[in-house]
Amino acid sequence: QRYSRITGTGSYLPPRRVSNAEFAADLAAQGIETSDEWIVERTGIRARHFAAPEVTSSDLALQAARHALEAAGRSAADVDLIIVATSTPDMVFPSTACLLQHKLGVAGCPAFDVQAVCSGFVYALSVADAMIKAGSAHCALVVGAEVFSRILDFKDRTTCVLFGDGAGAVVLEASDQPGILATELHADGSHAGVLCTPGTVSGGQVLGDPLLKMDGQAVFKLAVKVLDEVARAVLEKAGRKDTDIDWLIPHQANIRIMQGTAKKLKLPADKLVVTVDEHGNTSAASIPLALDHAVRQGRIRRGDTLMLEGVGGGFTWGAVLLDF
Ligand code: ACO
Repeated sequence: QRYSRITGTGSYLPPRRVSNAEFAADLAAQGIETSDEWIVERTGIRARHFAAPEVTSSDLALQAARHALEAAGRSAADVDLIIVATSTPDMVFPSTACLLQHKLGVAGCPAFDVQAVCSGFVYALSVADAMIKAGSAHCALVVGAEVFSRILDFKDRTTCVLFGDGAGAVVLEASDQPGILATELHADGSHAGVLCTPGTVSGGQVLGDPLLKMDGQAVFKLAVKVLDEVARAVLEKAGRKDTDIDWLIPHQANIRIMQGTAKKLKLPADKLVVTVDEHGNTSAASIPLALDHAVRQGRIRRGDTLMLEGVGGGFTWGAVLLDF
């Protein structure tokens, strides 16, 4: 039987780290009140990284991709599929994946973006898995890359303190050993309004509001519900139990949502991979960033069973269960 397996991970954070205290001081200068205490208590976030104005998602993706290829012992020429999950693409078109392909110095293989906001990486990984299992790809580069700082309203303290920029990547290869055990994806567009960036480009100008809007409490309630359901669904599909999970790597949005999910799966706190404290919410980049950090720290080892779970605007949600 043909499976897909992660053979390398990589990530990249832009160098500018902004602590809560520094951010609060910047916002105070504009008459907006927040504090390290409020942000840490409600979200678990202590700092985030912001890209320089000229740096795009494909620039961050390039660095993460290079690290993942190196870890897999592959070169860009070996890659026969590129998928980038992003909601902050460099351009309306071409896709960030095509721009990344060119920056990697290769051409020819299919390259496209997946847009499922914070579930984007789980969506992209599921698509790559399906294409590998179908025999239409052998060595896929799957990337989550975001510059959410470009769509933040820095006058809205309820959202601007939550997000950061970054990228994470994996190399996913065909294998006769699993690999990805099961995937599960969902969406419900009726909740589009609870988390959106409603503006667009039309008639040569930006039409509507190009900044992120969120009903935080509505998102919180939806996230807790669907993350539990999708975790159970993917375990059942794979014929595994919650006790089989070695590491839970949820989308890094809010420590309270993540701890709630771990508790429902009866996982001890030390099986939860947490990077939200240092990265903030990097949307589609958060899961591969967290995965790569835990791998490079030597916490996640070959053979461990991982549950990756995403939830985000759309509303979208999904999970991937895999043996690393
Ligand atoms: N600093 C200080 N005070 C603030 C701030 C801030 N940055 N933001 C809001 N407040 C105030 C509010 O104005 C409100 O004041 P009031 O009581 O005087 O009206 C008070 O704090 C409480 O606000 P709530 O919105 O009720 O705070 P809550 O406990 O719900 O926390 C939060 C807000 C952190 C956004 C929470 O709802 C949450 O985490 N929701 C989920 C968000 C999320 O996970 N989004 C991402 C998922 S999908 C994706 O990643 C795209």
